[in-house]
Amino acid sequence: MSSRSLPYHYQPLGQKSHSSLRGLIVHNPARWTVILLTTALSLMSIAYIVVQRPWGSDYDPTTQTNYWSSKPEAAPVQFGNAVYDPFFAPTPEEALASTTIRPIKAHAALSDECLDTWISTGEWRDPCHHDMVSDSVIDLIYVWVNGSDPIHQQVRKNLIAELKYSVKDARFRQHDELRYSLRAAANATKSWPTSTWHIITADVPDPEDDDGRLGLVPQWLDVTCAANSPPGGGPSIRLQHDAQLFRLTGKPGAALHASDARSWLERILPSFNSHAVESALPHLNPDTVSDNIVAFNDDQFLMLPAPPSMFHTTMYGSVFRVQWDLLVGADSSGKADGGGEWRSLGWSAHLLNQRFGERKRAYMQHNARSLSLPLLHELSLAFGEYFAATPLSHFRGSHRVPEEYEVNTIFLGAHYVVERHREALLWSWVVAKWGGASGKLSVEDKQGMWDELVGGGEDAQVEGDAAMLKFSGQAERTTAENIELNLLMAGVQPPRAFDKERQADTHYGWSSLDGYTPNFHELPKKTDIDRDQCLGRGAESAWSLFLRLLRGKPTCGDNVIAALVRSSKTGLSIFLPAPSSTEPSDPTDPITLPLILPSTAPPLPSNPRAFALRLIQRYAYVFGDTPTVFLGLRTASSAKIILANNDRKNKDTALVCLNDDLKNGDTGALDDALHEWFEGHWPESLGCELSGR
Ligand SMILES: *[C@@H]1O[C@H](CO)[C@@H](O)[C@H](O)[C@H]1NC(C)=O
Ligand SMILES: *[C@@H]1O[C@H](CO)[C@@H](O)[C@H](O)[C@H]1NC(C)=O
Repeated sequence: MSSRSLPYHYQPLGQKSHSSLRGLIVHNPARWTVILLTTALSLMSIAYIVVQRPWGSDYDPTTQTNYWSSKPEAAPVQFGNAVYDPFFAPTPEEALASTTIRPIKAHAALSDECLDTWISTGEWRDPCHHDMVSDSVIDLIYVWVNGSDPIHQQVRKNLIAELKYSVKDARFRQHDELRYSLRAAANATKSWPTSTWHIITADVPDPEDDDGRLGLVPQWLDVTCAANSPPGGGPSIRLQHDAQLFRLTGKPGAALHASDARSWLERILPSFNSHAVESALPHLNPDTVSDNIVAFNDDQFLMLPAPPSMFHTTMYGSVFRVQWDLLVGADSSGKADGGGEWRSLGWSAHLLNQRFGERKRAYMQHNARSLSLPLLHELSLAFGEYFAATPLSHFRGSHRVPEEYEVNTIFLGAHYVVERHREALLWSWVVAKWGGASGKLSVEDKQGMWDELVGGGEDAQVEGDAAMLKFSGQAERTTAENIELNLLMAGVQPPRAFDKERQADTHYGWSSLDGYTPNFHELPKKTDIDRDQCLGRGAESAWSLFLRLLRGKPTCGDNVIAALVRSSKTGLSIFLPAPSSTEPSDPTDPITLPLILPSTAPPLPSNPRAFALRLIQRYAYVFGDTPTVFLGLRTASSAKIILANNDRKNKDTALVCLNDDLKNGDTGALDDALHEWFEGHWPESLGCELSGR
């Protein structure tokens, strides 16, 4: 563990010239000299210490600063014809990511006793009470850029020329979507507990101040009004900017220094890459942004009033909408198209395979996406070096160095949770329940485990000298039937609509309270376990069996979970270790399993059952289905027809994504068509809109 490869072994600074940007950003040779010198010094003094802490990724907490404080309150400024939001980018010290794994705040209100009942029985009943949870507080996150901003355009053009890159115009084109997407959200989320909306906009160098940056501002929005208390009591809207969010992460356990952050920032800015911006979402300030977020692009619209449970509940977790018939396989070659999503998807699938075992994983629907901020942050630490490499692509797909491809934060953000939940179940059963304090599995333990797998029902067929266990047909579970009642018992508005044309209808098709689904939508129909291959008969350490079921032989792990789930109609009690006699859990206990699993077992937490319960709940999730459409707009006239048709035929559409696939340059006509549709749906302005189109 003492040696590690340099996570930031990038082209040294200066090798790649940014000459065309100099005019805009830097005309100060002294500053460059200082930067070059510091970088050289820091490269020479690389003496990294790998801190060996089995559970966390924490390095020296004394280097942690309050790194969100770098935006002093400043009034918007006028420059040229437009208004901007001035700010200072974080200093290198501030640009080091916080490496403290965070709890999910709403879980603190769940007592150990309630959590025990909830996870073991899947029923919200005494000692779980009505007031322990409520409708989730959800913040909306918009990522936005005004591609017509003259400074943005200039910096972009220069960089494109310099990188000899070519970019589709549509990526930066806009048709006033943001305004209407916000109006739509205002209408759809009226019933929500107070939430805050955050618009993350691109930023440009301040032509009058070397150190300053100007954040783009939607020109129709009175930002001071929006940030405070908008008239009419809608949600506050706050602006944040790309360059404010970038934080350097590293391989878990690696110590990073301000000098690393300095050279990294020099290499990644300016950024015109939506994947890069998304990779910085984990670093949204947890003091001002809710744990539950929904990430929107400005071309995504909420069409109907929606309960918060369409996106999150504390009990069932984030609602992921996946396209389970579109599977993403690993591709580490970087050959796939980098201008779209596929290179980053293949690369991200590869990273998940390395960590959690090989399989194909469902594509995340291209629409408003539920994510958990603390879990995104944990994800960015778990794959720290890969997150750090992502913004090296100034434009989507522009950096083509092997192993430094862009991660797809949205895809990872969902599948990381799914995998960590599966991992938690396997750890709980193998390591905490059967391995116990000794961490060893004897021959008798192995027999006991096998009996537990077989015990799942009279339909089990054990063949050939008890070597093969076969179940056919899905397990009988009541998880799905219980959802509505459980939520009502807890005082949470359920996601199903009574009238689907008046309220967004979401069906929780899969809940993690049913274990794991290898096909991303239902309980397995067939479960085969080869005893020798999957469990083995000999004594071994619980940790090594856990690793085998987790990722060595992932199908074995899937089938073990599927067999155990058959032991009861609801709940996951069979996975849990017996209650221990120890006192309430030690506050210094870890809150997660290690980010990178070591080859030998870390010590058991002081109260394994309480730990397992918290762990399983931390990664709770559902796969949901909501009427959603993705409309590609190729010409202005066809756009009109497509939009009108959808309005007429699919009145239950809850989520719309409009994709600008315009073939020729007739943007004006498309603008008009969209504007008409927008105004038809959302004629009422937000409280802080300035007049004019
Ligand atoms: C985008 O920038 C252009 C040029 O500054 C400006 O005219 C337009 O109003 C901006 N659009 C928005 C929505 O801010
Ligand atoms: C909200 O939506 C309803 C129906 O979908 C519509 O009648 C109403 O005008 C909308 N309100 C706003 C503020 O757009």
